[in-house]
Amino acid sequence: MKVRKAVIPAAGWGTRFLPITRAYPKELLPLITKPLIQVAVEEVVASGIEEVIIVVAEECCFIQEYFQSAPELNALLTQKGENHLAKEMCRLERLAHISYVTQVERLGLGHAVLTARDAVGDEPFAVILPDDVVDASEPALLQMMKIFHDYGSSVLGVVDVDTPDIQRYGVIRPESVKPCVHKVLALVEKPTPAAAPSQLGIVGRYILTPQIFDAIAATGPGRGGEIQLTDALSILLQSQPIYALEFCGKRFDAGNPLGWLEAQVALGLKHHEYGDALRQKLRQII
Ligand code: G1P
Repeated sequence: MKVRKAVIPAAGWGTRFLPITRAYPKELLPLITKPLIQVAVEEVVASGIEEVIIVVAEECCFIQEYFQSAPELNALLTQKGENHLAKEMCRLERLAHISYVTQVERLGLGHAVLTARDAVGDEPFAVILPDDVVDASEPALLQMMKIFHDYGSSVLGVVDVDTPDIQRYGVIRPESVKPCVHKVLALVEKPTPAAAPSQLGIVGRYILTPQIFDAIAATGPGRGGEIQLTDALSILLQSQPIYALEFCGKRFDAGNPLGWLEAQVALGLKHHEYGDALRQKLRQII
C-alpha cells in the first residue's frame, strides 16, 4: 500500500533550545536559509508524499503562518522586481497539502502521533522529526519506503550512535536481514549505555502501519512520564514485525545547539550560494 501521508510532530517544548523556545517553536529554527520544518516537508515531498499533517501546540501559531499564502507580500516582491524571491514564496506555499492538528496536552511523541489518528485514517504513514536532519542523495524517508514496500511492515530509520549518546535515543535489538536492514527484536527508550541492546538508535524517521494507533492508545507513561512512541512500537511488535534501516546519508541532531551548529557548518559548506564564501570565512576564523 502506498504511503501517502506524513505526520510531523511540532508541539514539543524544545527544552534543549531554551530560552529561544519560550516564544518560538524549535521547528522554525533556521538551517542556513530555511526553517527545519521546511527541510522536513521537502524531504517528505521528495519521497513522493504529498499530504503533510503537522501536529502543533496551538491552533494559531508561527508554523501555520509560515506556510500560509501571503498574496500581499508576493505582490510587493513582484512589484519590486524581486521575481526570484516571489517565485520561491509561491513554491513554498504550494510545497505540499498541509493540514494541522492540535496537541492540547503535550504528553510526548507517542501522544503527538496519536493526535493525528483521524487525519491519517486507516493507512500506513510516515513520521518525520524536523530536528533530525539527514543529508542524503536519496531522501532517507524514500529509502525507508522501499523497505516498507518489500516487507509490508513498519520501518524505523536508525543510525550507529556513540555509546555515551545512546541514552538520548530509542534503541533497537537488531537481527540482521541483509546489509543495513534489520529485523527489530526489541526496543528500549533511552537506555543507559550498559542496558542498551545495541548501538542502533532511532533517528526521527518512521514508516508506520495504522495499527500503531491502537498500540499508542494502550501505552502508559514511560520515560520522563511521557507517552513514548518507542514503547508503543514494543507493543506493536507483539503482533507484527518491524524492520529498521540504516539509511545512507549523514544525520545531524539539530535539536541541540551543538548539533545545530554542526549542521549549519557542514551543510553551509555544501551550499550552492554560500559554500565557497563560508569556507574562506571559516579559514580566517580558525
Ligand atoms: C525522540 C524519541 C526517541 C528517538 C529520538 C530521535 O526522542 O523518543 O526514541 O530516538 O526522538 O531524535 P526526543 O529526542 O524527542 O527526546
